[in-house]
Amino acid sequence: MRVLVTGGAGFIGSHTVDALLAGGHSVRILDNLSKPVHLKGRPDYIPVAAEFILGDVRNRYDLESALDGVDIVFHLAAYQDYLTDFSKFFQVNAVGTALIYEIIVARKLPIQKVIVASSQAVMGEGKYLCSRCGIVYPNIRSLSRLKKKQWGVGCPECGGEVESQPSPESVINPQNQYAMSKHSQEMIAINLGQRYGIPSVALRYSIVQGPRQSFYNAYSGAARLFCLHLYFKKAPTIYEDGRQIRDYINIMDVVAANLLVMESDKANYQVFNVGGGRAYSVLELFEITAAGFKSKLEPRISGEFRFGDTRHIMSDISRLTRLGWRPRYTPEKSIKDYRNWLMEQGNIDDVMDYAAQEMVRQRVIRRVSRALLPVEPKLTVNL
Ligand SMILES: NC(=O)c1ccc[n+]([C@@H]2O[C@H](COP(=O)([O-])OP(=O)(O)OC[C@H]3O[C@@H](n4cnc5c(N)ncnc54)[C@H](O)[C@@H]3O)[C@@H](O)[C@H]2O)c1
Repeated sequence: MRVLVTGGAGFIGSHTVDALLAGGHSVRILDNLSKPVHLKGRPDYIPVAAEFILGDVRNRYDLESALDGVDIVFHLAAYQDYLTDFSKFFQVNAVGTALIYEIIVARKLPIQKVIVASSQAVMGEGKYLCSRCGIVYPNIRSLSRLKKKQWGVGCPECGGEVESQPSPESVINPQNQYAMSKHSQEMIAINLGQRYGIPSVALRYSIVQGPRQSFYNAYSGAARLFCLHLYFKKAPTIYEDGRQIRDYINIMDVVAANLLVMESDKANYQVFNVGGGRAYSVLELFEITAAGFKSKLEPRISGEFRFGDTRHIMSDISRLTRLGWRPRYTPEKSIKDYRNWLMEQGNIDDVMDYAAQEMVRQRVIRRVSRALLPVEPKLTVNL
C-alpha cells in the first residue's frame, strides 16, 4: 500500500511511519515541522525510506501533492497546546480534515481508507454514576468551586456525590477548544466518509506515552512533565491534589491499533477509544516515574490547577478489544523507554518555566484562593 501520514514527523506519526515501512508499505509524510513541537528543526529519526513533504494540512496545494497516488491516509497532524488561540485549533484540526475530504471528492481519488486521530478529550468529564440519579455526564467544574479547592465532581441533577466510570465512545461532551476541534474532526471523517463512500475511522487516543514525544509543548501529559522535571532535578508541580484518574497508553499499543483499523474492514465508519484499560491516579504515575528515575524528589502540591482539566477520565476500550486489540504495555515500560530516550538526547532546552508562565499568562493555570494556598513552600511557578 502507498500510505500518507500527515504529522508523520511527530510522536505518534513517526512510530506509525516506522511500523508501516517495516510492514512493507511505501510511506509519504506531510508535516510542517511546526514549533514548539520541533523547536530544534527536522528530527533525525525521520527515515530516509519515507518520502518527506514539508507542507501544511491547511494548504490545498500541499495536500493535493501529498494525496496524489496514495491508497491510505493517516491524518495525525494537529494543533494541540490548550492555549487561547482558539481559531487555530479549528483551522488546523477541523479545516485541515475537511480539506482532505474535499480534495478526495473533487479529484475522485481512489483512497481506500482515512484514519483520523481524535482524542479522549472529546468525552470531557466523561461518564459518572450517581447513587440517586443513575448515569450522569457532568460538565467541567466551575472556577468558583476549584478556587475553594473543591476538586470533586458533583451530580449535575442532584448535586450529590458521583463515581467516575469508564467512558464508551457514545460519550461526547467536549469542553475546550482542542476537544471541540477533535469532535469536529470525527464528525467530518465519519459523516463525509459515509456520504461519499470513503471508508473512515476515528481513533480516540487516551494519554499516549513513549519516546519522541516533544519536550517543548506548553500543555502536556503528566508523564512527560514528570520525566523532564526529574531529568532537570526539579520538583514537579502536581495540579489539584493528584488524585485525578487517568488512563495511559503506550505508543506501541497505539501503533498496533492504527495498523489494525487500517487492515480491518470491520473498523470502517466507526469511532474507537484507544486507551490503557487501567486507571491510575496522577500521584501513582508520579511514583512510577520517580522509581524509573531513582529519584527521591517530592512533588509540589501548590494550590495550582489547570482550569478546564477534567477531574477524572478513563476510556472504555471494549469496542476495540472486540476487533482483537488489547493494550500490552504498562506505564512503567513507557516511562522507562521515555527516560532512556531522554538520556540519549543532548542539548535539551529547559523551557518548562517559560511554558508554565505562558499558561499562567493565558489563564490556563490558576490558583486556589489566597487563604487556601499552602504556606510552605513559597508559591512560584515551577511547572
Ligand atoms: N499524544 C497524545 O497523547 C495524544 C492523545 C490524543 C490524541 N492525540 C492526537 O494524535 C495526533 C498525533 O499527536 P502527537 O502526540 O504525535 O503530536 P505531535 O505534536 O508529536 O505530532 C504532530 C505533528 O503534526 C505536525 N503538524 C502540526 N500542525 C501541522 C500542520 N498545520 N500541517 C502539517 N503538519 C502539522 C507537527 O509538526 C508534528 O510533527 C494528533 O492528532 C493528536 O491530536 C495525541
